[in-house]
Amino acid sequence: MNKKALITGITGQDGSYLTEFLLSKGYEVHGLIRRASTFNTKRINHLYVDPHISGARLFLHYGDLTDAGQLTNIVYNIKPDEIYHLGAQSHVKVSFEMPEYTGDVTALGTTRLLEAIRRSGIHTKFYQASSSEMFGSSPPPQNEKTQFHPCSPYAVAKVYAYWIAVNYREGYNIFACNGILFNHESPRRGETFVTRKITRAAANIIAGNQKILYLGNLDARRDWGFAPEYVECQWLILQQDEPGDYVIGTGESHTVREFVELAFAYAGIELEWQGSGINEKGVIRSLNNTLTSVNGLQPGDVVVEVDPKYFRPAEVDFLLSDASKAMEKLNWSPKVTFIELVKIMVDADLELIDVQPPGEGRQILIDKEIQWTTSRITVK
Ligand code: NAP
Ligand code: GDD
Repeated sequence: MNKKALITGITGQDGSYLTEFLLSKGYEVHGLIRRASTFNTKRINHLYVDPHISGARLFLHYGDLTDAGQLTNIVYNIKPDEIYHLGAQSHVKVSFEMPEYTGDVTALGTTRLLEAIRRSGIHTKFYQASSSEMFGSSPPPQNEKTQFHPCSPYAVAKVYAYWIAVNYREGYNIFACNGILFNHESPRRGETFVTRKITRAAANIIAGNQKILYLGNLDARRDWGFAPEYVECQWLILQQDEPGDYVIGTGESHTVREFVELAFAYAGIELEWQGSGINEKGVIRSLNNTLTSVNGLQPGDVVVEVDPKYFRPAEVDFLLSDASKAMEKLNWSPKVTFIELVKIMVDADLELIDVQPPGEGRQILIDKEIQWTTSRITVK
């Protein structure tokens, strides 16, 4: 019989790739979705089949991480073999504006789901989407033994969720695991996270739809990987004989500034930086010929500026993974490099606005044989 998985956060970046991955492995997939006045399922529409049609293997259920009763109903009725708990208020900057809500959804939501498992008495495996943000100001490189020092309400909530998962493992013998994932990105990344904000802006500036990209801290360093590879790890973690906690990342770290430079350069705009602090600007040094004729961009034009409104009350300066445990025990290592990730994302954002991309990104996906998602790497 097919295995059954329940995914919270199925409409998010990771949820959509994980759904695709599990369907490709023959799973029956159930997803928790929030009621909204507009459709919020665009990342998974291409996977959805009318449940009346025989052979349908993707089923969606209304619910919310703040509603314990409905979570218990869903868990009890579906009796999934595996639960991937990806749902969260996942934006760090927003968590400073909505700390209480973030704690309710991101921290207590995990307890509600674990309680649903415990009370319904079902036998299942549980994956908690923990985060490298939990390490906060602890110096790099960070691994499973590094002390947590969270620097945002989001990260504090994730530390709570991490420990409640460990507590239910130790207290109730539930097969609960933490994947401590470093930043992972893709063409399906939410538009307000920095990588996607940059690649969309590079595309829009080239198309003449946007003049300037406003950013916050250009010096923050992140260990950025490719999301489809990370959802494979989420699955691998639950396939082990014993439950455990794993750091997942590339072992490479880059600044936001480097991401901007590479994304613009690949799209055809060479930048140079002028000024410093909040007066720092990204100025066009040179353009490829096609672009000059497309929309009147000129060397000397300012295309990137700093806006302090994007600074955070407390910042995580430097994340860099030491994923040696995952490499050894899960036999996993990332295939897509930093520059390749940038190319994949810029290609996709150019395609989305009907501008012919350079095309190296799509070729990288084919060459690296991430086949289960190659055809639908992005969604309109
Ligand atoms: P995402 O794109 O922001 O998706 C978040 C998901 O959670 C969406 O499906 C969202 O539903 C759902 N959600 C939010 N509030 C909810 C609520 N009250 N009830 C039910 N569902 C709710 O996040 P992601 O990038 O895929 O990340 C997946 C998980 O991994 C998150 O827990 C995140 O914190 C964690 N994580 C992410 C990264 C990363 O770099 N991406 C790294 C480490 C950990 P709507 O679509 O309705 O908003
Ligand atoms: N979002 C955003 N927007 N970030 C900016 C901007 C901007 O305009 N300018 C600079 N940054 C900096 C942030 O200050 C941060 O240091 C870095 O870019 C990355 O920001 P995000 O892309 O918002 O991601 P994050 O690292 O805060 O959080 C993401 O990764 C975590 C894993 O480490 C999220 O996906 C979290 O859910 C995840 O847990």
